[in-house]
Amino acid sequence: MSYSDHRDANVKDFNKSKALAYDSSWVKNILILCCHWILRHDSKLPLINLPYNDKQDTVNDVLKSSILTNIPISRTFNDKSCLKILDFACGTGLLAELMTPYLMPNSEFIGIDISENQIDLFNSKIDKILQLNSTLKIHSYQFDIVDENFNNLNNLSKPDSLVYGSFDFILCTLSFHHLSGISKILSELQKYLNDGGKLIILDFYDGEDDPDYNGGDDHHGHGHEHEHGHGHGHGEVSSVHHRGQSPQALKELMEPFKFTNVESDIIFTFDHWLSMKQLSHHIPPSKIKNVIDTAKMRHFNKVDEYLVNRNMVMTVCEK
Ligand SMILES: C[S@@+](CC[C@H](N)C(=O)[O-])C[C@H]1O[C@@H](n2cnc3c(N)ncnc32)[C@H](O)[C@@H]1O
Repeated sequence: MSYSDHRDANVKDFNKSKALAYDSSWVKNILILCCHWILRHDSKLPLINLPYNDKQDTVNDVLKSSILTNIPISRTFNDKSCLKILDFACGTGLLAELMTPYLMPNSEFIGIDISENQIDLFNSKIDKILQLNSTLKIHSYQFDIVDENFNNLNNLSKPDSLVYGSFDFILCTLSFHHLSGISKILSELQKYLNDGGKLIILDFYDGEDDPDYNGGDDHHGHGHEHEHGHGHGHGEVSSVHHRGQSPQALKELMEPFKFTNVESDIIFTFDHWLSMKQLSHHIPPSKIKNVIDTAKMRHFNKVDEYLVNRNMVMTVCEK
């Protein structure tokens, strides 16, 4: 399947109804944790040697302690005003909503996504975001950073602020496993970073690398359509996507791009109810029988679901 076929499958999948259902409390909770980990990331400290280490936190533990109201924001985000941040594959702007109140004055936060419906929802949040942090410049755009044909076909021009060498941070949350043509994407993202700028990726990992995953090129895997695995849109058919990759596999994926200080680790684990169909798409085949035999089960929206413990991997690399 070529990059453009895969991208088109994603555009079709992240349609209006999917976009409207996306901001579920489950996704929000996961993103609260992602935001927490991004904001406390300290350029001067190793990823897993942060001021305190709560790697064992589950979503519920962190939410119970309302930790987002008390984030130990690192020097990286606290010391510098005018940070320029790109949220790549930004979706409906949930991360923007969570993160921007903590950014220093005059920072710029730009979201890019190939789905018009996701971008519409992002844009609908901007006024509320500006009420909390009025000095911020915040915009989101439908744009494909690697395929000019898509942009031409959809009359999309390159946003003025999307300039090579200008970003302090590029963030990519919960999206990496949806992408194909990873090498084209990574090489473009690297160009958008300034010297010393950081790419931060947060994505799922379920205990085994996907042999179908071809990080360097277009996706050559199974190519079927399947149900989305983020706990929303039950019963829907969705885009082609891979399982997330291990910290080691992600480090290896970054090697050709000459990033420095590449770090990758599991930062938190969380419980997730998955249908049988979702299990087959996200959990390594060798683990499925064990999940069915041992996991807690519930009947939800007429579907049997199993409670699965999943991992979030954070990968940080510097240009
Ligand atoms: C699961 S959503 C995650 C959205 C958001 N980052 C978040 O954390 O909520 C995945 C997003 O990736 C976007 N996407 C998929 N392929 C893309 C590509 N090639 N370029 C940009 N965005 C892409 C989809 O449109 C979708 O909005």
